[in-house]
Amino acid sequence: MIVCENLVKIYKVSDLEVVALQGLDLQIDEGELTAIIGNSGSGKSTLLNMLGGLDRPSAGNLHVDGKDLLKFTEKDLVKYKRETVGFVWQNNARNLIPYLTALENVELPILLQGRRRRERALELLDAVGLSHRSKNKLSQLSGGEQQRVAIAIALANKPRLLLADEPTGSVDTKMANQILDLFRHLNRTIGLTVVIVTHDPLLAKKVDRVVAIRDGKTSSEMVRLRSYADELADLEKGVEAQEKESHIEYAVVDKAGRLQIPSGYLESIGAAGTKRVRVQVEDGKIVLLPPE
Ligand SMILES: Nc1ncnc2c1ncn2[C@@H]1O[C@H](COP(=O)(O)OP(=O)(O)O)[C@@H](O)[C@H]1O
Ligand SMILES: [Mg+2]
Repeated sequence: MIVCENLVKIYKVSDLEVVALQGLDLQIDEGELTAIIGNSGSGKSTLLNMLGGLDRPSAGNLHVDGKDLLKFTEKDLVKYKRETVGFVWQNNARNLIPYLTALENVELPILLQGRRRRERALELLDAVGLSHRSKNKLSQLSGGEQQRVAIAIALANKPRLLLADEPTGSVDTKMANQILDLFRHLNRTIGLTVVIVTHDPLLAKKVDRVVAIRDGKTSSEMVRLRSYADELADLEKGVEAQEKESHIEYAVVDKAGRLQIPSGYLESIGAAGTKRVRVQVEDGKIVLLPPE
């Protein structure tokens, strides 16, 4: 569904250049639910904006759903945003209109598409578990409920890819879990490919694949040893949760063979601050040694 190769994004602010993505590689299969984590300023939103067609990459390759986004004309971009992707922002104000009801908010984008709006809007509110709140004004809904309305809107165009930038950033843990459950449900029931940016490590622990971004590059990936669904099923059967690590962490190796060594590793071999290490193969392992 998503192939990013050596993706670069440079923002120009007056005569200053900010390299927000520095050759990022990422591949996401259709039907995957992936979380993206990383420090503030690492390039998460920039990546999501590129994927959503809200902004254009400066260089590299970006294919979504078989389409080459770097070759898009303005017209292609509009069509892509209308037909292929759904977007949920952290800030509700960007998703919703406060003086309309939940139902009217969801009807709006459908209206613009000229489909049978009432029926479809109710269907979508039902899909996010909010049918009972359809007649409430946005201001009468909790933060989590508002975010569900936003998700319903993002689904209005039947996207193949749902992008969510810190969708749980302004709600409490319980609500964050419910929103994640909703994404998981949509992922499983309609096979929607979902990419969620989060800064919440606890939330990321509940996703089967977590990609970490550092300084505009994918640095590592955490893959769940057992799927979260299996673990939940065990919990329901009364099997004790195990306290061992839930994910195994892999460093990402790019096409040129570059990888980011986890912070602290170089320090632990006495090579902190060094620009060189020796690389050797020993007994089927690649070994890094401090310089002599
Ligand atoms: N529109 C913009 N103009 C200039 N610089 C930007 C813009 N958007 C983001 N940046 C810069 O790009 C870098 C990555 O930002 P961002 O993608 O928002 O990170 P994150 O979402 O991980 O916090 C930061 O240094 C940020 O200041
Ligand atoms: Mg951001």
